[in-house]
Amino acid sequence: MESAKKSGVIDTVRWVPDTPDQALPGTVRIIEQTLLPSELRYVNLTTVEQVWDAIKRLAVRGAPAIGIAAAYGLALAMQHSAAADVPAFMEELRRHAAYLISSRPTAVNLAWAVNRCLAMLDQHADSAPGRLKLLLIEEAHKILQEDIDMCRSIGEHGNSLLPQTPNVGILTHCNAGALATGDWGTALSVVYVAQERGLSPRVFSDETRPLLQGSRLTAWELHRAGVNVTVISDNMAAQALGSLQDGCVIRISERKWTTKHKVMSQALEELEPAGEKALNRECDIPTGGSKAAATLPWSDPPPVWAAQRKPNYATRVMKEGRINCVFVGSDRIAANGDAANKIGTYGVAILAHYHHIPFYVCAPSSTFDPTLASGELIPIEQRNPDEVRRGFGKLTAPADVPAYNPAFDVTPHELITAIVTEHGVLRPPYNQSIAAFISALKPS
Ligand code: MRU
Repeated sequence: MESAKKSGVIDTVRWVPDTPDQALPGTVRIIEQTLLPSELRYVNLTTVEQVWDAIKRLAVRGAPAIGIAAAYGLALAMQHSAAADVPAFMEELRRHAAYLISSRPTAVNLAWAVNRCLAMLDQHADSAPGRLKLLLIEEAHKILQEDIDMCRSIGEHGNSLLPQTPNVGILTHCNAGALATGDWGTALSVVYVAQERGLSPRVFSDETRPLLQGSRLTAWELHRAGVNVTVISDNMAAQALGSLQDGCVIRISERKWTTKHKVMSQALEELEPAGEKALNRECDIPTGGSKAAATLPWSDPPPVWAAQRKPNYATRVMKEGRINCVFVGSDRIAANGDAANKIGTYGVAILAHYHHIPFYVCAPSSTFDPTLASGELIPIEQRNPDEVRRGFGKLTAPADVPAYNPAFDVTPHELITAIVTEHGVLRPPYNQSIAAFISALKPS
């Protein structure tokens, strides 16, 4: 794959060598994301403990970004190693690897990146420790560059799912952007590519309680990149999805269509070619829920509809402010397509399903965990209840009331319309499409 250009949005995790002409020694430079959006501050991490702590505190966060940070963390840990021989070097390395992996449990990209570095060094057991140090930093650079390329590619494949209409409305949850990856993001890469292609997407960003990655980070990076973004708090998603569709959702499935609300004439006028208005008005438009259906009164859908027609695809009037689709990232995808992502994603998926809005998960191959048969097996990080009780310092619940604070939930595969990867779009049945995807990745 040719290296993708950089978005220029932000450098989330980078290696900074002490001297420009030598890879080692160096430090890991990250954006201290806990300070955003008030302050954009880069900090240099000089020890593996600082890298662990930065991952744990979410100073660097997002599944691919923590994998990249951990790979650089390993190089950082080992650059001053005094190990005299390879077995001693490898033992020290494995200790740091286990330590880094222990920082957060849900995103598989973290263990994936660390284990990739270990596996690479296992193949160079005859090299001197000095050489192994260089190989580690080279591997971390590769992980970063490959992530940038994969994210760009996800953005391009994701665009094939977007209605090619100006102001296309996209809802997203948490931050799956440049701040969560090497660059571009996964879900937000789709947005950046759409913006580049002149579609002027309109993004609705869930605030994402309790740590507000949606409002602090997604809104910040999209706004900075000139994308039209509107923050909504999480409890507004149903209203936003529901009211925006008022009278405007037309579900096309084979030769049947359904609508949930009465205000159909407006929707039809926007969708239909002028000449077909009379025909459309003559239709007996059913109301009252998604189960209502009628056979189209013509043998084929009219041309405008036909262009947008896809099996089980919810088409809606393309008006500024209307949500056409949901794009989110993921921290781990099981073999059956169940996908862990930031807490609240599952609820958004249920809402999207109810409103017939396609729900897409975007993830690079490093996010897939085919060793887990289903999402029930994905470890879910439980975080400090005070993130809920005293969000950002102020008491928001009685201090002694228990608070439940899982950082992620799992969206069942039945609610996922498609999974967008760097190699294309995976469709149900996911057991099969994911197995084929994973086996195509393996070197022959
Ligand atoms: O707890 P966070 O902020 O690390 O959670 C991040 C997410 O849930 C992202 O959506 C996910 O990592 C995908 S990032 C491309």
